[in-house]
This record gives sequence, C-alpha cells and structure tokens, in this order.
Amino acid sequence: MEKHIQTFLNKISYLAITIATFTLILVFLFQTPPETCINPKHNPNHRPHPKSSCDAAHRPITTIDKKNHRLWCTGTWRKSVDSFSAIFHDLQNLKHICNHTHALIVSAGGGQAVMSLNKIGLADVTGVELIDSPPLVSRADPHNLPFFDGVFDLGFSANLDQALFPSRYVRELERTVKVGGVIVVCVEMCGNDGVIEVLKLFRRSELLQARNVTLMGSKMTMIITKRSKSRS
Ligand SMILES: *[C@@H]1O[C@H](CO)[C@@H](O)[C@H](O)[C@H]1NC(C)=O
Ligand SMILES: *[C@@H]1O[C@H](CO)[C@@H](O)[C@H](O)[C@H]1NC(C)=O
Repeated sequence: MEKHIQTFLNKISYLAITIATFTLILVFLFQTPPETCINPKHNPNHRPHPKSSCDAAHRPITTIDKKNHRLWCTGTWRKSVDSFSAIFHDLQNLKHICNHTHALIVSAGGGQAVMSLNKIGLADVTGVELIDSPPLVSRADPHNLPFFDGVFDLGFSANLDQALFPSRYVRELERTVKVGGVIVVCVEMCGNDGVIEVLKLFRRSELLQARNVTLMGSKMTMIITKRSKSRS
C-alpha cells in the first residue's frame, strides 16, 4: 500500500516537473520583446542586441540599452518628457530655439529634457549631470563645465534651485553660451522680486521674459535671458 502511494507521488512529481519545464520553454520561446516606444532615431547611440558571440564585447551597452528601454517606456518618464516638451514648444514659438540650435542642458537628470529636445527636432543636444546616464547624459560638474566658451546657442536648467553654488553655476552657463544665445532657467515659482533675485546671479545676460510654467506637475517660473556682452 505505502509502496503504491510512494510510486504514485513520484509519478505526480515527475509530471509536475515536466509540465513546469514545458511551460518555461514555451514562455521562453514565445516571449515577445516589449513594444518599442522610443524611436531609435532619437537615440543615436542605440546598438542592436548581439547576434553572435563576436558581438559579446557590446554586452555592457546592451544592458544599458535594455535598462534605458525599460525606463523610457514608463509613464513617469514619458510624462516628464512631455512636460519638458510643452516648455520647449513655447521656446520654439518664441523663436528662441530651432532645429539647428546647439543646446546644453545642465543638471539634466536622466535626460528627459534632452530626449524632449531631440523629439522636437534638435539634433545637437548635450546633457550633463554629476552622474552620467548614457546615451543621453554625460558626466560633468555644472560648476566646472568641460566646454569651451560660447559653444552653445541655448543653456537650460530646471535645477538652479538645487545648485550648491548658484552664482558659479550661472557663471558657467554664461561662459559656455555664446553672446546672443539664450539661457533659460526654471526655478521655484516666484513673482517679480524672486525673478530679480535670480537675475542677480547673471552677470552677462539680460532678461527677456519671465513666466509661470508647469514642469513635471510643479508650478515653476521660467526665466528667459539673452546672453549679452556684460551687464552695464
Ligand atoms: C525640425 O525637425 C523636425 C523633426 O526632425 C521636422 O519634422 C521639422 O520639419 C523640422 N523643422 C524645420 C523648420 O526644419
Ligand atoms: C506666478 O504666479 C504667482 C501666483 O499666481 C504670481 O504671484 C507670480 O507673480 C507669477 N510670476 C510670474 C513671473 O508671472
């Protein structure tokens, strides 16, 4: 009797293992890659997944690609990209940016603003942050930007509020943006007095416009300045 039960139980566990194995194989075979939500065109460094062991050297990049892919498909990511796009469309309508604007995003985070500018047609966008997020953002200290003077047409930051040394931060933006270029910062929502306070940090720019905007769900004030030779 006990022997029968033993055999029966053994059979059941073999069956269970077989079913589990088949299920795994099926899941593996029919697993479809997630739908692409990002046009690879917007991600110039995108590389295909390795097709042979010869491509294995690209494995770390593939991992980054996969991670980015997952991140870029999240609702939070898309919402913040759209949120930046609303602001950049404004700047486009005001003729402050066009497709050939050479743009710098300082404190670019994961690169939402970079992606947003790419999406609206800018080909040449540089994003920097203390921690890099390839391929959108490279590593650089906003207080000590690794760029020559006057190489950008647009400098943008939504994180001046968090800068350790705001005046040094602004000085670097002013240094790297060319005369006639535009520097745009979004700060905590403020009125005229607040805008004047922020403008004190700018030595070589003049105010074009300040307006309230919504960025990633927060009310902020966007201050648009034009890079001039010096403040008289
Ligand atoms: C800017 O680039 C976008 C996307 O590449 C394109 O659709 C648009 O027509 C371009 N605009 C101009 C004015 O060239
Ligand atoms: C932004 O909105 C607040 C509250 O409505 C207002 O006090 C402030 O003046 C506005 N700032 C600008 C730059 O328009």
